[in-house]
Amino acid sequence: MQIERILHSQGFGARKLCRILVRHHEVTVNGEPCDDPFADFSTDNLRFTVKGEPWEYREKAHLMLNKPAGYECSLKPAHHPGVHALLPMPLRERGVQNIGRLDEDTTGLLLFSDDGQFIHRMGSPKWKVPKVYEVTLKHAADEKLVAALLQGVQLNDEPAPIAALGCEAISERLLHLTLGEGKYHQVKRMVAAAGNRVEALKRIAIGRLALPKDLPEGQWRWLSPADLEALLPTREAATK
Ligand code: URA
Repeated sequence: MQIERILHSQGFGARKLCRILVRHHEVTVNGEPCDDPFADFSTDNLRFTVKGEPWEYREKAHLMLNKPAGYECSLKPAHHPGVHALLPMPLRERGVQNIGRLDEDTTGLLLFSDDGQFIHRMGSPKWKVPKVYEVTLKHAADEKLVAALLQGVQLNDEPAPIAALGCEAISERLLHLTLGEGKYHQVKRMVAAAGNRVEALKRIAIGRLALPKDLPEGQWRWLSPADLEALLPTREAATK
């Protein structure tokens, strides 16, 4: 594919602008300077730099962000900056969307993609990808709290009680809570319905994909093939 088209596909703007970038010596491809916008390259394992910043070609973008508090999961944020502001321009330009939402004050693992099929699958209730939250409680947890969350609690507007898939007390005020759904404020509402209160909330895993310990808040990273595999439902969940 011509480098001008490659840059355009990766979010570096209109083809004309990409042509100018190449002609102005702002681009290297696989370690070599390239000033011919029509030079052809294989996109397999293609690495390039634009204005000195390294990139790798991705036909579709799949990435994770460690969301900090103080950002809204919306393209039209009302009261705080949007999470998209934490991503570099080419990713925003190619239209990556956040998959699911975290509250403004919730931190942790948030996925983004421009792959329509992937976005649809991850959001589908059929896909059954559990989400794990680290919940900091206002009051010390007792056994009743864990039992209530596992047995199911009644939320307003829900026809039947909702149960956590898993709930483990890590310490007096810390729970790991696994949910199969993603309803509005679900963790906060479930914990409140069980008689406690959420002080802080962090999503630490989606499926078998854990938030990497070395990904600082506010930073993003591409999903590797192993990460994508970890987002597939387990065989038993898929056949239920
Ligand atoms: N549940 C909540 O209450 N808030 C979130 O951000 C995610 C799950």
